[in-house]
Amino acid sequence: MALAQTSSVSLTGLTGNLIDVEVDISDGLPSYILLGLPDAALSESKERVRAALVNSGEAWPNKKVTVSLSPAWLPKSGSSFDLPIAITLLMAQGQVPKDQPGECIYLGELSLDGQLREVHGVLPALLAAKKSGFIRALVPYENYQEAKCVSGVEVIAIRHLTNALAYLRSGQIPDSPQLFSSSSSDYLLDLCDVAGQVAARRALEVAAIGGHHLLFIGPPGTGKTMLAERIPSILPPLSEESILEVTAIHSIAGTLMGRELLSKLPPFVAPHHTTTAPAMIGGGAHAIRPGATSLAHEGVLFIDEAPECGRGVLDSLRQPLESGEVTISRAVGSVTYPARFMLVLAANPCPCGRFSGRGRSCTCTQVAIRRYLQRLSGPLLDRIDIRVFIDSPSRIEMASEELGESSATVRERVIAARAIADDRFAGCSWRVNSQIPPSQLRNRFRAEKSGMNFLHTELDKERLSARGFHKVLRISWSIADSRGHAIPTKEDVELALRLREGMELLA
Ligand SMILES: Nc1ncnc2c1ncn2[C@@H]1O[C@H](COP(=O)(O)OP(=O)(O)O)[C@@H](O)[C@H]1O
Ligand SMILES: [Mg+2]
Ligand SMILES: [Zn+2]
Repeated sequence: MALAQTSSVSLTGLTGNLIDVEVDISDGLPSYILLGLPDAALSESKERVRAALVNSGEAWPNKKVTVSLSPAWLPKSGSSFDLPIAITLLMAQGQVPKDQPGECIYLGELSLDGQLREVHGVLPALLAAKKSGFIRALVPYENYQEAKCVSGVEVIAIRHLTNALAYLRSGQIPDSPQLFSSSSSDYLLDLCDVAGQVAARRALEVAAIGGHHLLFIGPPGTGKTMLAERIPSILPPLSEESILEVTAIHSIAGTLMGRELLSKLPPFVAPHHTTTAPAMIGGGAHAIRPGATSLAHEGVLFIDEAPECGRGVLDSLRQPLESGEVTISRAVGSVTYPARFMLVLAANPCPCGRFSGRGRSCTCTQVAIRRYLQRLSGPLLDRIDIRVFIDSPSRIEMASEELGESSATVRERVIAARAIADDRFAGCSWRVNSQIPPSQLRNRFRAEKSGMNFLHTELDKERLSARGFHKVLRISWSIADSRGHAIPTKEDVELALRLREGMELLA
């Protein structure tokens, strides 16, 4: 009987599903049938596999070939099934021994001359395979480094189909690429580069402690981008679990090259303000790829010139901000990716950009200024916890030879403050102050009596909305953690209110 079977993996979001690749060759008119909900890229595998086999000196059966990918109901996409299909076909023809030792996974796209091409999502695919007991994987040469991140799976790097066949026929192991070490997880940008900006630095630190979202407002060239880019350097390093999750997301998106593999550094993602909603939250016609919000998972999403962003794009941020994940639905099905990030927005204060506390030559009317920032839509602004007005550093600050505090020093304080919060939240479903639910703020996580009284007065004066009330409380917990107060004091609450209010322009 000319029947053979191997295994591969198909991804739905970050979840890998084991796929049985079966090939049957029977007498009949030469034909090729591919079963199992293939998408366009997968349907084209026939031509790639045929050319790759012939150009590698193998025979293509002039018979009826049926390829089945099961479970059949699961939609499958992409080109990574080329390699398993080619090998199973040769097994069915008796040209490659069927009884391969151990459980093995095959992944890779074939080019017409038989070279194996890089594919996306190898890391999450192998994690799933390992969970199901697989101990060996044949992957494209370019994916070797990433595949090696999965401990306990023997990885064979394949450059060309003939290498795979030599391995399966006679155990000949092809050369693997040299692993480059990913030990140098130093971030190149350091907070000590920033002159002055004492208030902004303070806000940055509080935001990093509690995971609060930030808005920078200030004229161009005052260091907004500079400050934002340095936030990852003061955030705590990622946990082992988060490292794998973040790397897996970047593996699927094909953006691993921009990141050190298994980096402990929280990602920093800065989509341009002309970006589209699908690029922001994810999408695509066939395979649904993660967008900027997921690439920023466990890190920072920075949007410069935020008022210039399309309304739809900013509004698309609301789902991930609320739930920490995004669900994208397409005809082929729906996919959910994690998307828990610190949102950092930067905005010019007015259309001309020159409005400033020092009263420079801004020509905009009050109305125009107000309208400009209103582009940031109420619901989104409401989710911003801390607003910082940034002005140019003074001449003295710029001229000073003394460097500002380094990121390492600030990060140590952030880590210490987070450890305090961690203890407080033991057994809770959230980890940082910005995520304390409103009901808990009302009883368990109140500030000192005088602080609460102060907030109630602000409420009475209508200087604070109910949502603002909760935000200020959350921020005051972050301030208390940074100052070693067991419970927020009145001073902590007052500072929190100032951070929340930023500037009057937005009132
Ligand atoms: N506080 C500062 N300390 C040192 N250099 C600064 C500062 N603010 C601005 N600069 C210089 O100006 C450049 C532009 O800053 P940038 O962060 O891009 O401004 P913005 O995003 O506010 O337009 C920086 O690359 C840096 O060289
Ligand atoms: Mg900028
Ligand atoms: Zn202006």
